[in-house]
Amino acid sequence: MMLKRLNNADGVFSSPMSKAQNGAREPAAFDAGRHRGKRVDLNDLHLSYGDRHVLRGLNLAIPAGQFLAVVGRSGVGKSSLMRLIVGLDKPTNGNISIDGSVVQGLQKSVKLLFQDARLLPWQTVLSNVGIARAPGWRDAAMNALRDVGLAERNNEWPAVLSGGQRQRVALARVLVGEPNVLLLDEPFGALDALTRADMHTLLEKLWLRDRFTTVLITHDVAEAVALADRVVVMREGRVTFDVDVKAERPRQRTDVELVALQERILREV
Ligand SMILES: Nc1ncnc2c1ncn2[C@@H]1O[C@H](COP(=O)(O)OP(=O)(O)O)[C@@H](O)[C@H]1O
Ligand SMILES: [Mg+2]
Repeated sequence: MMLKRLNNADGVFSSPMSKAQNGAREPAAFDAGRHRGKRVDLNDLHLSYGDRHVLRGLNLAIPAGQFLAVVGRSGVGKSSLMRLIVGLDKPTNGNISIDGSVVQGLQKSVKLLFQDARLLPWQTVLSNVGIARAPGWRDAAMNALRDVGLAERNNEWPAVLSGGQRQRVALARVLVGEPNVLLLDEPFGALDALTRADMHTLLEKLWLRDRFTTVLITHDVAEAVALADRVVVMREGRVTFDVDVKAERPRQRTDVELVALQERILREV
């Protein structure tokens, strides 16, 4: 694993903790033709709400298809950062580019999933997934429901689903548009541990197949190191810690290196 410390006043690079583990296995479903991640660059981002400075010169380059996890204390500006990337808000200074094009206004190529599923209760599961109603939306929505294992529930109402199933419908809804960049803002925080583990498996499977660039915000450092290629810590409006996670997939949560890495990250949060 490679550890580097950034932007800190005491910012010397940490020494490597352990031997590198390269060569993550590709799954059976590997299909390079489907890969659609785009590169995301966050360039000297500043964001203020009135005289409250939330982001203070945040820089981060996210390669196409990377699975990045962002951890940081509550209020550090993680959700605000997601709103900037999707184009819902504008930075006070600096810019974001996606495959080199500066973000201006809402980005179709970027989709955002929240902790609560936000389904429309008066629409069926299928209609919730196909909400954008593009031509061919029914087939696309059914395919997305199949991907999340809920095709047979397409005609039901959200109210009869469990919390985990509703979140899978919400995942299908963001994936139906084949996003190039998927932003997940604490998406599994409200789920029980077993349902959360199922969601991890599902998300990893879909990401391995399609390689949309993924930014996962999480409080759960174990979740971050289990899923991500790279974990960054946000502090005081910047990225202050940045580490690659090179353990093979599927990962064992009890892997001693991952557990040690978790502890390392927690010290930086
Ligand atoms: N629309 C807003 N207007 C004013 N302050 C805001 C707004 N959105 C967020 N904030 C403030 O910005 C800071 C960062 O919020 P947020 O991005 O939600 O943090 P996080 O997701 O890391 O918990 C917090 O202090 C929050 O109160
Ligand atoms: Mg938040």
